[in-house]
Amino acid sequence: MKKINKICCIGAGYVGGPTMSVIAYKCPGIEVTVVDINEKRIDAWNDKNLDNLPVYEPGLKEIVAETRGKNLFFSTQIDKAIDEADMIFISVNTPTKTYGKGKGQAADLKYIELCARNIAKVAKTDKIVVEKSTLPVRTAQAIKNILDNTGNHVNFEILSNPEFLAEGTAINDLLYADRILIGGDDTPSGTEAKDALAAIYGHWLPDNKILKTNIWSSELSKLVANAFLAQRISSINSISALCEKTDANVQEVSKAIGLDSRIGPKFLNASVGFGGSCFQKDILNLVYIAKTYGLNEVSDYWEQVILINDYQKRRFANNIVSSLYNTVSGKKIVFYGWAFKKDTNDTRESAAIYVADALLDEQAEIVVYDPKVSEERIYADLDYLNTRTEEENRKLVTVVKEPVEATKEAHAIAVLTEWDEFKKYDWETIYKNMLKPAFVFDGRRILDKEKLDTLGFNYYRIGEGA
Ligand code: NAD
Ligand code: UGA
Repeated sequence: MKKINKICCIGAGYVGGPTMSVIAYKCPGIEVTVVDINEKRIDAWNDKNLDNLPVYEPGLKEIVAETRGKNLFFSTQIDKAIDEADMIFISVNTPTKTYGKGKGQAADLKYIELCARNIAKVAKTDKIVVEKSTLPVRTAQAIKNILDNTGNHVNFEILSNPEFLAEGTAINDLLYADRILIGGDDTPSGTEAKDALAAIYGHWLPDNKILKTNIWSSELSKLVANAFLAQRISSINSISALCEKTDANVQEVSKAIGLDSRIGPKFLNASVGFGGSCFQKDILNLVYIAKTYGLNEVSDYWEQVILINDYQKRRFANNIVSSLYNTVSGKKIVFYGWAFKKDTNDTRESAAIYVADALLDEQAEIVVYDPKVSEERIYADLDYLNTRTEEENRKLVTVVKEPVEATKEAHAIAVLTEWDEFKKYDWETIYKNMLKPAFVFDGRRILDKEKLDTLGFNYYRIGEGA
């Protein structure tokens, strides 16, 4: 079996950084170099102060502290790392296209193609190239074409090894993965490459967790896994709307259905809507792929998952406006949370952004508190929407570091992220701080309803009648 001594990972983001840190940690005999074109990001990965790492994940800084400078390196010297590596992971971003054919649905593969061309240009020895990014089914074909037609006639073996970690629990998910998926050719060299990658994960995971498939099944399974997970959230969120009309309680419904072992209890938490960099992007990609094969019923089916998610965010914002007597103009609304889920500083596609946008359209004054998201990020998220000018965003939105103080003279609080600390606040003081009636809109169902009702709040939470 081919022995891997050096790994290069292109892309030092939310996947490349944590994944390679864990590989380096578990495989001290392998030298792992993570490279990126973004110098600022690499500098942050190399920062002496581990609190400045560009990705916040519980447990990550401890692993980086253990491995960085020993067998884990972060660098902008991409060509050197490619040249020296036996195995190259491509872990760059694959966002939804914002232009041209497939705009708004297809995955933009320009960064993947750039990586493939770079590998082809630099490689002078045989390489195993691993797709770690989430890609449309049959992308390996395109990568292989580029490598074989523009390379230096060395042998490239392409594997698909999608990542299933969730942010906020990335380290745990990597250390105790439900499964590792490795797709590749069934030729002798393909099998050898799959075995070499399996051996890396074999340092800490048992054989029965490592699943080998053909490359197309592996690429497609990643999109399907995300689509199924998101589908559960949209399903329960659609039911949350019905619960609010009928006085059923969505949590009781989740529990009742989740106890059926065929359904299971996970991913049935009704919320203000799912966010994150991948669910929407990957489902849109699935929708696009199905459409390109003429499978319109299939694409319509999965598109509903996105439509319900948009509806849920809109519904939450509309409910705030209608509860506040049909106007939020000039009213101070405090946002607890901006990240798309707890325990991450990532805000990509966070529901908070869209709820804020809808309320800003109604001229609300928004004050945001999030324990891990920077002011700069919050403004960048709003500016990116292009709904209003940068000046207007800064005039209408304030970012604060003091969550209780922020509630002075506020009309309402909206809970957008399920950070644990929100539950522990002094809600009595918050009640005193606020204008009356004091409204709380809990988009995550994390607060103690009985307590808030007793304190006098008008407390609304997703999936329950008032
Ligand atoms: P990210 O944006 O955090 O990181 C990608 C990095 O790649 C960036 O730092 C960017 O500068 C770098 N990059 C882009 N082009 C490059 C090039 N040509 N050379 C060198 N560096 C380059 O993205 P991410 O969240 O880490 O996601 C990466 C991939 O993994 C995506 O396909 C995503 O769908 C998939 N994925 C993400 C998650 C997640 O939780 N974020 C989980 C599973 C899979
Ligand atoms: C998700 C998948 O869980 C990972 O397996 C996958 O690797 C990753 O996408 C990816 O491909 O990027 P992630 O988006 O990081 O991970 O986080 P999740 O825990 O899945 O949460 C996604 C969103 O759904 C969050 O906004 C979360 O608050 C929301 N959610 C989750 C709910 O609203 N209800 C739930 O029951 C669960």
